[in-house]
Amino acid sequence: MRRRTHTCGQLRSADAGKQVILQGWVARARDHGGLLFFDLRDRYGKTQIVIRPEDDEALYKKASGFHGEWVLSIEGDVKPRPDGMVNREMDTGEIEVHARSIDVLNRCPALPFNIEEEEIHASEELRLRYRYLELRRPEMQEIFALRHRVCNVAREHFTERDFSEIETPFMVKSTPEGARDYLVPSRVHPGKFYALPQSPQIYKQLLMIAGFDRYFQIVRCFRDEDLRRDRQPEFTQIDVELSFPDREMIFELTEGLFTKIFKASWDVDLPQNFPRYTYADVVATYGSDKPDLRFGMPMVDVTEHLRETDLRFVKGAIEKGGVALGICVKGEAGRSRKQIAEFEAVAKDVGLGGILPVKITEEGAQGILTQHLPAESLERLLKLMEAEVGDLLLLAFGPREATQKGLGALRLHLGSELNLINERDVSIFWVTEFPLFEKDPETGDITSSHHPFTGFFDEDRALLDSDPFAVRSHAYDLVVNGSEVLSGSIRISDPDVQAKVLSLLGIEKEEAERRFGFLMEALKYGAPPMGGFAVGLDRVIMILTNKSIRDVIAFPKTLLAMSLMDGCPSEVDEKLLKDLHVKTILPEEKK
Ligand code: AMO
Repeated sequence: MRRRTHTCGQLRSADAGKQVILQGWVARARDHGGLLFFDLRDRYGKTQIVIRPEDDEALYKKASGFHGEWVLSIEGDVKPRPDGMVNREMDTGEIEVHARSIDVLNRCPALPFNIEEEEIHASEELRLRYRYLELRRPEMQEIFALRHRVCNVAREHFTERDFSEIETPFMVKSTPEGARDYLVPSRVHPGKFYALPQSPQIYKQLLMIAGFDRYFQIVRCFRDEDLRRDRQPEFTQIDVELSFPDREMIFELTEGLFTKIFKASWDVDLPQNFPRYTYADVVATYGSDKPDLRFGMPMVDVTEHLRETDLRFVKGAIEKGGVALGICVKGEAGRSRKQIAEFEAVAKDVGLGGILPVKITEEGAQGILTQHLPAESLERLLKLMEAEVGDLLLLAFGPREATQKGLGALRLHLGSELNLINERDVSIFWVTEFPLFEKDPETGDITSSHHPFTGFFDEDRALLDSDPFAVRSHAYDLVVNGSEVLSGSIRISDPDVQAKVLSLLGIEKEEAERRFGFLMEALKYGAPPMGGFAVGLDRVIMILTNKSIRDVIAFPKTLLAMSLMDGCPSEVDEKLLKDLHVKTILPEEKK
């Protein structure tokens, strides 16, 4: 096969007269009354190919049998398109190539779905089964070109600042990021397992102890957890750690990286310093530790103003120690009863007992609350919520955490439902002062809010024993458009403090020894102060492309953690299991 002289996106009118060889896939073949046209497509673009029977009858006949996605090598002459036929939409729209000879490199049967249309009309299942066909679409190729650019920006950013990219192992001792591990049985050591890393956390700390000073890695992580819109069982982090850090150094490093990423992909300038909010503030104001701040609608605490209401369900909730929170939906007082009932249904879906609407009209406030609250209290409530004529207030009541979370979710729903989000805006900010510990929602046990190696405020040390949930950690998250895209912390580097935190987490000495003994030991051998973070690369690309996480990973898994293309996970030969000393115990329903 002869080499191509140009790509399918390259030829312009200045190339007219050249004899060229192009290689690619047949797209949109059409016969215009004895004149055969098709586009030849590759990663770089498309070029219109013309075959005229009067030039070469045999070639015309041969080409009449071509179908979409056949792979061809075409030799031909570049000609300007006739007047009126220039296509400004196409980079190569000024020219066409008149074929002299064509080699068929491969044929292709009818596709399971049409990849040439603007939008694919096939189920996600079918698209994932034939992922390589979906990936052939220019739109998908652009996503991966962008992903590559972002990785390059990151590599350059860290390399310029003296960071070394160092690989850490994939077959490791279990790591503690809070999800389940994927396990790899050992053949040589019956009954023993490697775990796939949930992140390189421990290993990057060991690299600091080893004196590498500045490490980064673009690395795959594996977590067996419930999948969501922005979670995959294997995903990629830009993982970073440095010695002798302070938080400002880390923030500056990260802000520089994100500024470059957004400049290179969206050509926007991010603010010089990203805003910072404490965990307590964002949760109180937006009901989430990763709110989307491309629109306002903050939550206002109106508990005090509603104490005097005689509405039993409100009064009762407050007397039980609960709160009353409200959001002001600007300009939406005109919503019909039916539409407000829809908001109420959403409120119930997100865990609120219900919502109390108050409409602000020219005639004053309207809604059931107005007859059950002294005028003065109502007046103060409206003022506090900055309510104006035309606004709709939605109030919710109940235990603080659940009400914050529920109203935060309703706020987010309204943001997209009412089109308050401009897709080209960037809301980027830090969240700091997370609590060091939280209660496991299922078991009620004390767990790390981030991971057990997270440092904490020195001045909160005394609280470790007396009120551990009040201890503030040195963790920070970076939130972009409502998504947590980075998480990190200054670490604990003192082995005694580390042992203390593990014991508070209920990981007693023996277990700590068994699980993290190698780290605990290493910490004794001159550990420098260290800190770092990991960027969720897939999430960043998701945001930059406004796509789902499955769109930005070349070969993603479904929500049930399956790969529909190769059909994994799958059964394996009995012999293999035997070699690995593994026996499967299937749940009843699978037998
Ligand atoms: P964390 O567990 O918060 O921190 O992960 C860091 C970032 O990785 C992304 N992320 C995910 N992306 C896709 N699918 C998933 N299942 C998934 N899980 C996490 C998020 C998240 O912010 N070792 C620490 C970092 C550190 O402390 O340095 C860690 O892994 O964007």
